Amino acid sequence: MKCGFFLVIAYLNLLGLSAWGQRNVSNFDRDWRFARFGLQADGTRLPEPDSLEAYEVDDTSWRKLDIPHDWAIEGPFRIDLDGYTGKLPWQGIGWYRKHFTVSAKDKKKRFYLDFDGAMANAEVWLNGKKVGERPFGYSSFRVDLTPYVLYGADNVVAVRLDTEKFGSRWYPGAGIYRHVRLVKTEPVHVAHWGVFVTTPEITDTYATAFVHVEVENNRQYAVKGQYTVDIYELDANDVIGEKVASTTKRSMFLDAGSSVEDSVSLRVESPKRWDLEHTHRYLACVSVYDKNKLVDVYDTPFGFRTILFTHDNGFLLNGKRVQINGTCNHHDLGALGAAINKVALERQLRILKSFGCNALRTSHNPPAPELLELADKMGFLVMDELFDCWTVGKKKNDYSALFDKWHEKDIETLVCRDRNHPSVIMWSTGNEVHEQYEPEKGVARHLTEVVHRFDHTRPVTFGASYPSKSAMNGTELQVDVHGMNYAAGVYGGPDFYGKFLNKEGHEHLSGYSSESSSTMSSRGEYFPRKHHVSSYDLTEPGWGGLPDWEFAALDKYPAICGEFVWTGFDYLGEPTPFNSDASVLLNHAEALNREQLAQEKEALEKIEKNRPTSRSSYFGIVDLAGFPKDRYYLYQSRWLPDLPMVHILPHWNFPDRMGEVTPVFVYTSGDEAELFLNGKSLGKKKKLPYEYRLRWDDVIYKPGELKAVAYKQNQKWAEAVVRTTGEAVKLKLTPDKTSIKADGEDLVFVKVSLTDKDGNEVPTAENVISCTLVGTGEVIATDNGDPTCLIPFQETTRPAFNGLYLAIVKARFGCNGPLHLIVESKGLERAEMKIMIEN
Ligand code: GAL
Repeated sequence: MKCGFFLVIAYLNLLGLSAWGQRNVSNFDRDWRFARFGLQADGTRLPEPDSLEAYEVDDTSWRKLDIPHDWAIEGPFRIDLDGYTGKLPWQGIGWYRKHFTVSAKDKKKRFYLDFDGAMANAEVWLNGKKVGERPFGYSSFRVDLTPYVLYGADNVVAVRLDTEKFGSRWYPGAGIYRHVRLVKTEPVHVAHWGVFVTTPEITDTYATAFVHVEVENNRQYAVKGQYTVDIYELDANDVIGEKVASTTKRSMFLDAGSSVEDSVSLRVESPKRWDLEHTHRYLACVSVYDKNKLVDVYDTPFGFRTILFTHDNGFLLNGKRVQINGTCNHHDLGALGAAINKVALERQLRILKSFGCNALRTSHNPPAPELLELADKMGFLVMDELFDCWTVGKKKNDYSALFDKWHEKDIETLVCRDRNHPSVIMWSTGNEVHEQYEPEKGVARHLTEVVHRFDHTRPVTFGASYPSKSAMNGTELQVDVHGMNYAAGVYGGPDFYGKFLNKEGHEHLSGYSSESSSTMSSRGEYFPRKHHVSSYDLTEPGWGGLPDWEFAALDKYPAICGEFVWTGFDYLGEPTPFNSDASVLLNHAEALNREQLAQEKEALEKIEKNRPTSRSSYFGIVDLAGFPKDRYYLYQSRWLPDLPMVHILPHWNFPDRMGEVTPVFVYTSGDEAELFLNGKSLGKKKKLPYEYRLRWDDVIYKPGELKAVAYKQNQKWAEAVVRTTGEAVKLKLTPDKTSIKADGEDLVFVKVSLTDKDGNEVPTAENVISCTLVGTGEVIATDNGDPTCLIPFQETTRPAFNGLYLAIVKARFGCNGPLHLIVESKGLERAEMKIMIEN
């Protein structure tokens, strides 16, 4: 072990520098100035002054803020805005400026700014000189500041973003919504994303790490360079362990102003494989020498694992079949909007894991890099996706407007950024693209080839809509793995998969469901109010299906690798079935006949007349606030079959349904269950083949207690009780932790529930709740999971929705606590909790 190294790491961490290496990477998130022009939050327009990039612009009156920042999540929600982008005022022109100094001693250094993503149409200037641009708001990009840096003086970076010329089918967010870092290097250094580690051989006794290195020489003269590679073990907290392999110095001749590539193989004895339960990682540490002087150290985490998509036995990880139990998710973090926060993202992934989700589809765009890092550490498989459309758009000014000029660059960026992550198992070039119906144009093939230029080790896919129409036309042979959206009905049909497997060229093609289900519900609503969808989990849009439908298809056809459910979390925008536009209803227009199309249009007109307040989706297994819906337990019962569990729905607080038929469903990982109402058995039910929920459809409502006792192989397996509760008299706080770091990023999520006098959560309570934070911190957002609620997320007062409310607490940067959260509701005893600051 290298104790000295740990001290260096701890010190670098304190400085906000890279965790491992000696490369100088500093956090560039703090102290920006921001001003918004063009469309304002209230719909008025503020003319954009000329030349805001100029060095001398007086920005002292601009708003001071830290990034990541999403100007749109600040709202307010506006009923007149489109539901499909969340009724939030995301369109506008945003300017960000940041002042910083560069020491006169650094005259010979190179300076780069790395943006993880800026929404959208980013243009970047340093001291009034343009240094770069990147229109696609989801792409990471680097700009080279070096030519215009002022040494020993004030420097100004200016960034202009324009979301007015940008089209999206969901809420995209707006602003510099991901991290930015300042990278300082010597003239000779590893190129941007310039290390690619592949693992061509993995056995129990040894593995080979094949390390490809690209080094840049920014000097005016040729350089005799050298490099070495060392491989270390890396633990889950990013602490470096034993060195397990290394090279001697290897020479590189670097011409003036050029870059050179080289590769080297290293043998690692007894490799620890990365898998979903044991997320062993290694670190490839590349050291670069200019003559004999060490000038750069560049670190790349990676893992040893094999992946194989088979046509007859699904997906194999390290040679073993792993069913893909995945979810699709958009990039927003609910009440926090699109601004990346690793703690909030980690919470989402923890919740997904808790019901057995083991795979993520980054629908439909490049994710924040933190997602890959967390997936590596937490054990998820990732389908890393690029685009929602190619040459033919779905919305005005969407990616189709950028495709010709930018698609190769955007592919290169994503693949080079993410190709060392063991969690990434495939690249997806698109979703429900028009070109799937035009195989002769070969767009899918072209994109597959572009991806393989940068990574030949993983398959390429895209999500095909209506695979029954497009999968047999040849497009499916232009990718490596066949992604099918909503295709449960066709996997086994004589016209499809049977034929599909036997068709020439299809012998080795494997398939999986790139999108499944699309079941809709509002948490806790069973006989739903206006603009809500019942939580009996029986509502699907025309193109979708119920979870059970997909389960049955996958059970019948185990050759299919698994599914990505639409969606894990509710997300901002796309509030189908209460969308007030054509974004989803007419998604599949090309595949519909005239009669179906007319029906869809009629449905749309009706919705438009009602102008619903719905602003976020109903598709999630979990609601926008992170509270599980009933469906959560249906997936848990299937995806974690060894976890003893049983869940009853609905709740049992229906004073208006006295004597009325009120169906009761039971989700269990057992194979049968007995249901009791007030101690009286309503019978035992067993899951029949291809049945996944147990239903008692004719229960007559009477208040009291519902109890379900589940059995597995005739043994008692789990028990659950649901009771009619009294009225809400108390507030209960359930935080996800009780201490917080004052690092400007850490968050505590506090669930507030309303309980009766006996402590039972009241599932229908909608009391108005307020919270206050005393101390050096803030409640930065609240939510309740109600997709129709138009109260801004920053408000600390809102009603509970079906019994629950969420407060998100952050400590002020660098403060020392403690923080004190007070939660109140009229007529109820107030609740309080202390949150300690971690050192
Ligand atoms: C799919 C589409 C997704 C989402 C979903 C809603 O067809 O690929 O992006 O719109 O429908 O069900």
